[in-house]
Amino acid sequence: MHRREIPLTLLVLMFISTSEETCTSRLHITAVEGEPFYLKFCSSSSEYENKTTTIKWYKNASHGPLELSSSSSPRIILLDYVLEFWPVHLNDSGSYSIRMGNDTHDWKLNVIRRPKHSCFTEKQVMSKSVEVKKSLQIACEHSYYQKLVNRTLLYKNCEKIENNQNPFLKKNAEFKDQGYYTCMFFLLRNGKLFNVTKTFNITIVGDNSNIIPALLGPKLTHVKVELGKDVQLNCSALLNEKDVIYWNIWKKNGKDPNVHEEEGTRIRTSEGKWLASKILRIETVKENNLNSSYNCTAASEGGIDTKSFILLKKEDPVDIPGHIFTRGMIVAVLISVVIVCLVTVGAIYRVDLILFYRHFLGRDETLTDGKTYDAFVSYLKECRPENGEEHTFAVEILPGVLEKHFGYKLCIFERDVVPGRAVVDEIHSLIEKSRRLIIVLSKSYMSNEVRYELESGLHEALVERKIKIILIEFTPVGDFTFLPQSLKLLKSHRVLKWQADKSLSYNSRFWKNLLYLMPAKAVKPYRDEAEVLPVFSQP
Ligand SMILES: *[C@@H]1O[C@H](CO)[C@@H](O)[C@H](O)[C@H]1NC(C)=O
Ligand SMILES: *[C@@H]1O[C@H](CO)[C@@H](O)[C@H](O)[C@H]1NC(C)=O
Ligand SMILES: *[C@@H]1O[C@H](CO)[C@@H](O)[C@H](O)[C@H]1NC(C)=O
Ligand SMILES: *[C@@H]1O[C@H](CO)[C@@H](O)[C@H](O)[C@H]1NC(C)=O
Ligand SMILES: *[C@@H]1O[C@H](CO)[C@@H](O)[C@H](O)[C@H]1NC(C)=O
Ligand SMILES: *[C@@H]1O[C@H](CO)[C@@H](O)[C@H](O)[C@H]1NC(C)=O
Ligand SMILES: *[C@@H]1O[C@H](CO)[C@@H](O)[C@H](O)[C@H]1NC(C)=O
Ligand SMILES: *[C@@H]1O[C@H](CO)[C@@H](O)[C@H](O)[C@H]1NC(C)=O
Ligand SMILES: *[C@@H]1O[C@H](CO)[C@@H](O)[C@H](O)[C@H]1NC(C)=O
Ligand SMILES: *[C@@H]1O[C@H](CO)[C@@H](O)[C@H](O)[C@H]1NC(C)=O
Repeated sequence: MHRREIPLTLLVLMFISTSEETCTSRLHITAVEGEPFYLKFCSSSSEYENKTTTIKWYKNASHGPLELSSSSSPRIILLDYVLEFWPVHLNDSGSYSIRMGNDTHDWKLNVIRRPKHSCFTEKQVMSKSVEVKKSLQIACEHSYYQKLVNRTLLYKNCEKIENNQNPFLKKNAEFKDQGYYTCMFFLLRNGKLFNVTKTFNITIVGDNSNIIPALLGPKLTHVKVELGKDVQLNCSALLNEKDVIYWNIWKKNGKDPNVHEEEGTRIRTSEGKWLASKILRIETVKENNLNSSYNCTAASEGGIDTKSFILLKKEDPVDIPGHIFTRGMIVAVLISVVIVCLVTVGAIYRVDLILFYRHFLGRDETLTDGKTYDAFVSYLKECRPENGEEHTFAVEILPGVLEKHFGYKLCIFERDVVPGRAVVDEIHSLIEKSRRLIIVLSKSYMSNEVRYELESGLHEALVERKIKIILIEFTPVGDFTFLPQSLKLLKSHRVLKWQADKSLSYNSRFWKNLLYLMPAKAVKPYRDEAEVLPVFSQP
C-alpha cells in the first residue's frame, strides 16, 4: 500500500460517516407519531446520479407491495431518494422499499405512540459518555430539517434549559450533568408548525485510573467512652467504584451481641471516586468492649488498608468539664477587658496617676541636688496696663498656688533678688540654683530684659542639661516665630495653656500638668494642712 493512499481512504470514510447522518441505512426504524419523518436512501456512489431510470417507492401491504405516489396521501412526499411524512402516523408502520432499475432497498418502520409524560422516547435516544472534567457539548442542529427550523429549545430531563435563542451547551462535565438532553426543533412547513426531537443520553464517567483506597483519619484511633452509653465508630474511605469497605467484627467465640455493622453510604466525589462510610454501632458499652481493637478495612484489586479503633474508659478528671471550661473563658475575657480598661484609663489619666504615685510614695527629688529654688519664674517685668494680668499671674497666682498649696519654692525676680548686684550675674546664678525655668509667655514677652533669662535658661537646659523648661502660654500666642530656634525643640507637653476660666481650681488640668512637670517633692505647705485643697479629691 502506498503511503499516499492512506489519506484517500480516510477521506472516503469521512464522506460515508457524514452522509450517514441524513440518510437512513438501518433496517429497523422507530418513529414517533405526530412528528415529521423521512426515509432517505443512502446512495453512496454516484452510480445513479445521472441515470434516467425511474425511482419507485413501495409500501408492503397485506395484499402485496403498494406503489406510493404523492397523490396517495397529502402527508406523504416523494423526492427521488427521499420519502417524507408530514407527519408520520401510527398506521404508517410497515415495510418500505425503494426500487431503481434492478436495485432495491428495504426498511421496516415502527411508529410508536407519543409518550404522555416525557418529552422524548427512550427508543430514540443517542447514548454518549463524557469523561468528567472534559468538555461536554450539546449542539442542537438537525442535519436534515435545518432549513425549516423556526425555533429550537433544549431540555434536560424534559425541563427547559433557559439559556438563549440558539440552544447550545458547552461546559466542563460534572457528574450532575448526567441526564437526557432533548433538542426540540419546531419546523414551519406550508404555514403548519411541527416538532421533531433529538435526545442524547449523556453519561458522565470518571477517569479510568484507579486509586489506592485510603481510609480517612489515623491508623489507630482511641475513642473515650462511658460505660452503658452507645458509641458509633465511623469508618470512611476514599476508594474506586468496585472497592469495598467493611468492619472485621468476627471473634473467636462469635460476634458481640451489642455490636452492629450498619449499612454503608457512598457519595461520588467530583473526581469520580467514591467517599464510602460505614458505621459500627456499639450499644451500651460494656467492660469487654474496652481495650480490644475494632478494625475496619477498605479492599481493592490493588490491596487493602486497615485501621483500628480502641475504646477506652473515659476518666473523669482527665477532661475539663464543660462548665469549668466556660467559667475559665469568662474569667479570661473579663481579665482582658479589665486590662484594656486600665490601659485606656492610664493613657487618659497618666498625669493623675503619676502625681498619685509620687504622693503615695512621698518621693522627693529635691533633697540632694543642692539647689535652692524649685523654679525660676521668667515673666515680663514691666507692669503696664496691657500686660497687667500676666504680671499678676506671675507674681501672685503662681506663687500663691505652687508655694502656699503645694510647698514649692519659687524664685521671682522682683521679690527675691537683692538690689544692688549686677542684674545679669544675679539672674545667671539664680537660674543655676533653680530646678525648673518657668517662662510665662505672652506676645510682649520678648523684651531685652527677659531675653537674657531665656537665653541663660536655654543654655542650661539644652547644653548643660541642668534645668528643665516649662512654658506657660498665658495669652494665646499665635506663632512662636519670635522664640529662639532652640526653644521650638521643646517637647510639646512642656507647653501649658492657661485658660483663666477653667484653670483657676487647684484640681484643674492646668495645675495637675504643672505639678507633673515640677520636680517631685513631699508636700510641706507653709500654711495649715486643712487649707490645702486636695489635688486628688474624689469627683
Ligand atoms: C409537538 O407536536 C405534537 C404533535 O403535533 C404535539 O402534540 C406537541 O404538543 C408538540 N410539542 C410542543 C412542545 O409544542
Ligand atoms: C453523469 O453525468 C456527468 C455530467 O453530468 C457525466 O460527465 C458523466 O459521464 C455521466 N456518467 C454516466 C455514467 O453517464
Ligand atoms: C413485502 O411483502 C412481500 C410479499 O407480500 C414479501 O415477499 C417481502 O419480503 C416483503 N418485504 C419486506 C421488506 O417485508
Ligand atoms: C391513518 O391514521 C390517520 C389518523 O391517525 C388517518 O387520518 C388515516 O386515514 C389513516 N390511514 C389509513 C391508510 O388508514
Ligand atoms: C437489470 O437486469 C436485467 C436482466 O434481469 C439486465 O439485463 C440489466 O443489465 C440489469 N441492469 C443493471 C443496471 O444491472
Ligand atoms: C442511558 O445511559 C445510562 C448509563 O449508560 C443507562 O443506564 C441507561 O439505560 C440509558 N438509557 C437509555 C434510555 O438508553
Ligand atoms: C417563526 O415563525 C414565525 C411565524 O409563525 C415567524 O414570524 C418567525 O420569524 C419565524 N422565526 C424564525 C427564526 O424563522
Ligand atoms: C462519617 O465520616 C464521613 C467522612 O468524614 C462523613 O462524610 C459522614 O457523614 C460520617 N457519617 C456519619 C454517620 O457521621
Ligand atoms: C485497658 O487498658 C488500661 C491501660 O491501657 C488498663 O488500665 C485497663 O485496666 C484495661 N481495661 C480492661 C477492661 O482491660
Ligand atoms: C486489628 O488490627 C490490629 C493491628 O493491625 C491487630 O493487632 C488486631 O489483632 C486486629 N483485631 C482484629 C479483631 O482483627
